[in-house]
Amino acid sequence: MNTHRERVVLITGAAGGIGAATARTLVADGASVVVHDLRREGRLAELAAELGDAAHALSADLCDPAAADALWHEALAWRGHIDVLVNNAGIYEAARLDDELAIWHASWERTLAICLVAPAALCRAAISTFGEQPGGGIIVNLASRAAWRGEDGDYWHYAAAKAGVVAMTKTIARQYGRRGVTAFAVAPGFVDTPFNAPAVAEHGMEMFVNDTALGEVAQPQDVANVIAFLASGKARHATGATIDVNTASYVR
Ligand SMILES: NC(=O)c1ccc[n+]([C@@H]2O[C@H](COP(=O)([O-])OP(=O)(O)OC[C@H]3O[C@@H](n4cnc5c(N)ncnc54)[C@H](O)[C@@H]3O)[C@@H](O)[C@H]2O)c1
Repeated sequence: MNTHRERVVLITGAAGGIGAATARTLVADGASVVVHDLRREGRLAELAAELGDAAHALSADLCDPAAADALWHEALAWRGHIDVLVNNAGIYEAARLDDELAIWHASWERTLAICLVAPAALCRAAISTFGEQPGGGIIVNLASRAAWRGEDGDYWHYAAAKAGVVAMTKTIARQYGRRGVTAFAVAPGFVDTPFNAPAVAEHGMEMFVNDTALGEVAQPQDVANVIAFLASGKARHATGATIDVNTASYVR
């Protein structure tokens, strides 16, 4: 059965590793996708061209919650409905203990803005739309293993943002189910995407491979498959859950 036929899915950060794999997977399943990223040109434009009529590309800087809200309404205008929101855009930048306070704080603000506040603004807009449309809607938020395990010393802000995403997702699931909203979080461990290029350059891939139970790191498709399942509507009664995709590197 083609579970995604006629569904419209908004995917933020779709020019990146997990977002692009998710867009391709959902379109292969019959969905239409609004693919978003910081810039429309380059990788996002190439992805949209590859996916043809099933995709519509939009750009917005998610440092700004007003831009996140405007993105939702632009995306909604494309086909007149959105059935699934995938909050996937994210950054992973260091805030070092020995950075000057202003630099450290700016990194906290950027990380919280992109990884927590913009997803919250998009959830806010989505809940309001989903509450009005037949069939409601599904929210899938990208969290991280860092939400439970914690993260390396330079990344407390990232761990805090992702823990916030988990708490926000649980709250949405508990409070808005009767309005037709289901909400899930997906918590990857290491995934082989551009996100980790600096860490791989510093430590080498072997360190990350050794941390897994399968002797191989997850690829973007491994996360995309889980997102697509949650987006299919087949997991309604798992609402509020976080699905770990961390190759048993951290079993909670
Ligand atoms: N790759 C991993 O190991 C890993 C692990 C745990 C969680 N995650 C989460 O998965 C999600 C996707 O990660 P990925 O590995 O595909 O990363 P990626 O870097 O490949 O893609 C992230 C995308 O977000 C976009 N983005 C960043 N800042 C933005 C802004 N201000 N406005 C709009 N778009 C912006 C980037 O342009 C990029 O295309 C993120 O939320 C990340 O935190 C990734």
